Amino acid sequence: MTNNTYRSMVVSQTDNGRYQREITAKRVSELPEGDVLIRVNYSSLNYKDALSAVGNKGVTRNYPHTPGIDAAGVVEACSDGSFPLNAQVLVTGYDLGMNTSGGFGQYIRVPSDWVVPLPSGLSERESMIFGTAGFTAAMSVYRLASAGVTPDRGDILVTGATGGVGSLAVAILATAGYKVAAVSGKKQAAAFLKELGATDILPREALADSAKKPLLEKRWMGVVDTVGGDILSTAIKSTHQRGVVTCCGLVASPKLNLTVFPFILRGVSLFGIDSASCPMAERKTLWYKLANEWKPLGLERIASEINLMRLDENIAKILEGQQIGRKIINLNS
Ligand SMILES: NC(=O)c1ccc[n+]([C@@H]2O[C@H](COP(=O)([O-])OP(=O)(O)OC[C@H]3O[C@@H](n4cnc5c(N)ncnc54)[C@H](OP(=O)(O)O)[C@@H]3O)[C@@H](O)[C@H]2O)c1
Repeated sequence: MTNNTYRSMVVSQTDNGRYQREITAKRVSELPEGDVLIRVNYSSLNYKDALSAVGNKGVTRNYPHTPGIDAAGVVEACSDGSFPLNAQVLVTGYDLGMNTSGGFGQYIRVPSDWVVPLPSGLSERESMIFGTAGFTAAMSVYRLASAGVTPDRGDILVTGATGGVGSLAVAILATAGYKVAAVSGKKQAAAFLKELGATDILPREALADSAKKPLLEKRWMGVVDTVGGDILSTAIKSTHQRGVVTCCGLVASPKLNLTVFPFILRGVSLFGIDSASCPMAERKTLWYKLANEWKPLGLERIASEINLMRLDENIAKILEGQQIGRKIINLNS
């Protein structure tokens, strides 16, 4: 087994400091130490993968490297006995695809405490339609619900709504009975967002706060923000008394220009989302929900499938903010 070769995307740094990507053969013996060897059948493309694939040192310190923060497949070897051979499993987050060889290859080897048994009710493919994006969306919805934002309390705003996290947040919220307003920069995607269950579609300009007041008219009981910057600060200033906002991303900006007034006058709560380090007990709870009551009926509509050869064009697209929904990677095609 250890001399077996497998196909993988490898990103390496060239002599002139640029980064190049190739699909090449690697040996299983080159994988890092770990308890569980997994034959990867599906992975998915996330914004963080694209950053790793273009040499972003904030994500990946050392190259050559195989990105892919998500993987679903079967156990081929397990040294500590925690998983039987051929068990269907998934891994998202932790260090996978960052500085540990990731799911853009047909094998990964990881510590057993990173591995989640595939919940019944989800196929490996479906688990990667969710992937880190869907898991992050689920974590965000869980924060809203746990803080008392139930569907009867008011509207929920989702930003970056056609992206991976955004589209799955819209779909999960609608499935759970919430009324969802979606902010998107893509006019052409209104039908897609309505199909996912959004009742209102807002252009990004609707979240531009030209008045720069500390508080704005109350509109949202909850917010799932994936973009940061002015859109997030406007959303926080427009959140109802005791409303809840989650923050996971920075595609617009890592900055947040605010006063404390939304927090001290309206009791708004802002929750940070760190899906990569979500504790295992909560991780299993959320995957169970994604396989059951939060599984959107039209899950397949959110994703399209590609193979390793088509990753390049899709990495460029996600970095330009042009991704709609999810791309899953079939490692066997
Ligand atoms: N903290 C965590 O645990 C965690 C986990 C997963 C992802 N993330 C982060 O969440 C963010 C979204 O990830 P993703 O995988 O969903 O990425 P994605 O698929 O590229 O989605 C991002 C979406 O944001 C919108 N957008 C892009 N550029 C924008 C801009 N300049 N201003 C406003 N909106 C913009 C676009 O949607 P519209 O065109 O519809 O507006 C885009 O499709 C990233 O920053 C990612 O790193 C964090």
